Amino acid sequence: MISIKQIILLSGLLIFVGCSSPDLSDKPKTFKAKKMISQVYKEHFLIGAAVASSEYGNRDYFDIRYAELLPHYNSLTAENAMKPEVIHPLKDQFNFQAADRIINYASSNNINVRGHALVWHSQTSPWITEGSKDAVRENMRNHIMTVVGRYKGRVYSWDVVNEAVSDQGSYRADSPWYKAYGGPEYIIDAFKFAKAADPDCSLIYNDYAVVRPSKRHDIITMIKKLDLKKHGLDGIGIQAHWNLYWPEINEIQRTIDMFSEMGLDIHITELDIDCFDGMGNKEGRAFDNDLDDKLAARYREIFELFRINSDKIVSVTFWGVADDHTWLDYHYNKTWNAGKPLKNYPFVFDTDHKAKKAYNEIVDF
Ligand code: G3I
Repeated sequence: MISIKQIILLSGLLIFVGCSSPDLSDKPKTFKAKKMISQVYKEHFLIGAAVASSEYGNRDYFDIRYAELLPHYNSLTAENAMKPEVIHPLKDQFNFQAADRIINYASSNNINVRGHALVWHSQTSPWITEGSKDAVRENMRNHIMTVVGRYKGRVYSWDVVNEAVSDQGSYRADSPWYKAYGGPEYIIDAFKFAKAADPDCSLIYNDYAVVRPSKRHDIITMIKKLDLKKHGLDGIGIQAHWNLYWPEINEIQRTIDMFSEMGLDIHITELDIDCFDGMGNKEGRAFDNDLDDKLAARYREIFELFRINSDKIVSVTFWGVADDHTWLDYHYNKTWNAGKPLKNYPFVFDTDHKAKKAYNEIVDF
């Protein structure tokens, strides 16, 4: 006769044999971060993060979701809340709620805000570039004077114009702004209006792949040709959507040198490290020890470079707070991965908001 004890033992054995225990050996060790990154870098530059607020109607508030991690940052950027499609969707309609939440959180926690982005070809509002050149200029003036004016003194730096240079050289001629103006003069107006709205704010031209020599040359040519410094330009926003292999450190250094020599401040505005681009891996993979090591090494060399250039760099902003929210998850589903999001791991905090090895590499030096 089988006893109760034997039944319990047997069922335990069956359960043990049945479930395949996950291979925990390859799951990177993560931990609760103790040192605040912003404190570690308080003598170097501001440490920022892009945050999603209640734009698009979602109620996933950054200040609740990331309450524990936000003290790592002393600068915030609105990932989408200050873009025209959100903040000024119709000529006579402004939606400030989402942006106000970020501004109010920053003010009550004594941290800074980077404004993003006043004039861009994407996430703009269609009405704003409809009509004659003069009508569009007035739309731009009204937009910038209202939005920059509302946050005057509470935004230390604005991405005034975003991505106006194409990847094929010269201007992004398919921008609705370029089309409405019949040329690049809209860029000058944007800086003039922003300067008039908040003379004390640092005004930035922001772009991606700024470190690529051909695009870097085109951006420098634009700045000189339009004499943007005369119209209010204070600095360059290097978006820094980089990966584990590109760009090389010496190219980043060359880029910092070239813009500094023009008398421009350097803002690293949208830092994230794509764990898949450049690796030829299109199926995606778990965040394992190999990726943990590669990401740690990459952040180590990048932040070593940033520290060497801290006299030129005003801010370093991650384009997110932790791996549970990154635009990169959706970046590839347009081109491959059968339209499914591909989980990426671009930050020093993982999906559970725990610190990765990369965190140690940037705070211990
Ligand atoms: O989640 C909402 C959904 O509820 C809603 O129905 C839908 C309506 O369109 O929008 C969804 O939101 C999406 C949002 O990302 C979610 O975070 C928006 O569609 C989508 O457009 C938005 O993408 C943003 C992307 O810019 C648009 O180009 C990303 O968040 C944002 O991280 C990304 O940021 C840009 C910088 O502003 C400029 N530099 C490049 C960088 C990466 O593309």
